[in-house]
Amino acid sequence: ASRGFVLFNNGARMPSIGLGTFQVTKDSIQTVVDYALDIGYRHIDTARSYGNEADIGKVLDKNLCAGTLKRNDLFVTTKVPRDCLGEKDTERSVRESLDFLQLNYLDLVLIHAPWGQEPPLPDKTTEEQKRPAQESFVHYDLLTTWHVLENLVRKGLIHSIGLSNFTQRQIERIWQNAKIKPANLQLECHAYLQQLALRSYCQQRGIVVTGYSPLGAPDRPEKYRNLDDLHLLSDPVVQDIAEQLGRAPAQILLRFLLQIGVVPVPKSTQPRRIAENLQVFDFSLRQDQMSQLQALNRNMKFFRFEQFQNHPEYFENEEF
Ligand code: A2P
Repeated sequence: ASRGFVLFNNGARMPSIGLGTFQVTKDSIQTVVDYALDIGYRHIDTARSYGNEADIGKVLDKNLCAGTLKRNDLFVTTKVPRDCLGEKDTERSVRESLDFLQLNYLDLVLIHAPWGQEPPLPDKTTEEQKRPAQESFVHYDLLTTWHVLENLVRKGLIHSIGLSNFTQRQIERIWQNAKIKPANLQLECHAYLQQLALRSYCQQRGIVVTGYSPLGAPDRPEKYRNLDDLHLLSDPVVQDIAEQLGRAPAQILLRFLLQIGVVPVPKSTQPRRIAENLQVFDFSLRQDQMSQLQALNRNMKFFRFEQFQNHPEYFENEEF
């Protein structure tokens, strides 16, 4: 078997490896997605804010029309951006995603982050739009946003809904008041940031965890880099286990997440690596190797989103 699935609390299945598409640019996104589908990826993770939904949509449509892909086998996730958390904007954003992706339903829609921002102002110049993020912080009632998504599920436009970058307290408030419970939480998760507290909470609640930056986001934007950051892919423990098993370091990191029950969404633009990142279902890590990897945990969050730290919803009372 080249791939496995995880089961959501609503009965839906999500392929246990997804293709990440953050920062995959216009010049390569179509080739990347086409290649990934060709070699067996069936789970694509995107977002309104990545700016690549329309290009992904072209490739999905091409493959669906050609019959090389069945809609039922495909799992597409997108996210409602921080500046569309208001009631009307949320529905508009989801409908735009459907248009761009050329789909008549989305498998999973997440609230991208709880740090609301004013909606985009189409009649303003680009310069005006470049106001500092802080000036446009808005507190939205995320439960209202959630109810909009619930309605879109009822209308059949979305199959499952979830959250991203939320704290346990924020998730729990949604959970307690939701008619449709969150099926998925997406957050930064890798060997240096194993998210023990949130994972155990999600397990209790039956929420599947998706891990972004599973390889340690080596190409993250400059503003998220610090001089003392470690490079996960070249960690000696990871390299050593890779050598023992005759595997690539990336495969060790992805397999580690699979074995702790996290769905990784690695991103690559290189065919060899895209393929390598899916070849993780034909081996497993032994208990001693798992323990060594578990010991790498060090609360190293690469995406700390410090530009939002004065936002009322910013990782409030976060427990590690
Ligand atoms: P590239 O796109 O040039 O392959 P993450 O998913 O943690 O954000 O990591 C994505 C980054 O890791 C990208 O810079 C990507 O570079 C690189 N990458 C992806 N797959 C592999 C791999 N199998 N081996 C080494 N680096 C990889």
